[in-house]
Amino acid sequence: MPPPNTEHPVASDAVTESAANAGDTHALPYPRRPAAADPPPHTLPPEVGTVVGTFVLQEKLGEGVSCHVFRGWDQSRSRPVALKILNWANVFDRGAAMKQLRTEAMALARVKHSLVVRFIDFGFDPRWPYLVTEFFEGRPLGELLRSGGALPPAWALYLVSQMADALGAVWQAGLVHRDIKPDNIMVGPNGNAKLIDFGLAKADALEATRERTGPELAGTAAYLAPEQAKDASVVDHRADIYSLGVTLYEAITGRLPFEGRNRVQVIFQHLNTPPVPPAERAEGIPPLLSDLCLWMLAKNPDDRPQNYEELRQALNTVIGVGR
Ligand SMILES: Nc1ncnc2c1ncn2[C@@H]1O[C@H](COP(=O)(O)OP(=O)(O)O)[C@@H](O)[C@H]1O
Ligand SMILES: [Mg+2]
Repeated sequence: MPPPNTEHPVASDAVTESAANAGDTHALPYPRRPAAADPPPHTLPPEVGTVVGTFVLQEKLGEGVSCHVFRGWDQSRSRPVALKILNWANVFDRGAAMKQLRTEAMALARVKHSLVVRFIDFGFDPRWPYLVTEFFEGRPLGELLRSGGALPPAWALYLVSQMADALGAVWQAGLVHRDIKPDNIMVGPNGNAKLIDFGLAKADALEATRERTGPELAGTAAYLAPEQAKDASVVDHRADIYSLGVTLYEAITGRLPFEGRNRVQVIFQHLNTPPVPPAERAEGIPPLLSDLCLWMLAKNPDDRPQNYEELRQALNTVIGVGR
């Protein structure tokens, strides 16, 4: 039995119990004697109960490549919050990662709209830098689609209309979101939606750190506008309209317009292959809705709805016809 390692924030009871069961110290999970290859203790994720700033971590909601996401409690204002905390274990360049989270916070702080998650705080806790936003009770649209398949067209239209309004506010704030996809759209019990995750958002005045330090191919391949696949640093809001078109396509058909075995294959199709009209892929999709989806998915940004007003009008027409 190794000596208890007080630096590991894991309950020691768990160790005793598993040690007794295992009877073999080599089979022990954490905590155990640190090996030379182990990351230093602060690269471990924070535990539920940890306090960062004035916020208590209450429940882990998710883990992305660069961040852990927690539901937390704002002790100073007595309200639930969501905290995005840097995942040091996956961070290669610490300075760039801190700058990236700060850029995300600054982008979010610029947008004030009821359908965009509200910025609350950003802090340089030396253990875990954090970004705090309002907590939204719901599930990501991506999860809903993965578990339940396509949505009835009217529901999909309601969600996408809300996102068109949210993105109108993002555009007014001088930003391009650049990561519109079902996993970044939260859906509440009543079908109310909220746009989250400004980790790739870009503005002229903000330093787009990921572009300087990482590949230019920012964004998730399946939802990537052709021009964003070519060079993510020069896109405008019409790239978000394309990604929202992919989201709409997936929501009504239950399938992505372009599938492939790898990123290159998918991007090739975004650039070169006309999408199969949604109405040919699933039953019960009104032709006008199918056409709108194809309009949003035009390869050339000049051939898409040019702004959110135009998009909103088109959505209203489809919604009106469906009544
Ligand atoms: N404000 C929020 N309210 C509730 N859940 C949230 C909130 N923000 C994020 N989440 C949860 O955390 C997950 C990851 O958050 P996100 O900001 O998309 O991080 P990442 O950059 O890792 O994709 C979301 O899919 C959602 O489940
Ligand atoms: Mg995300």
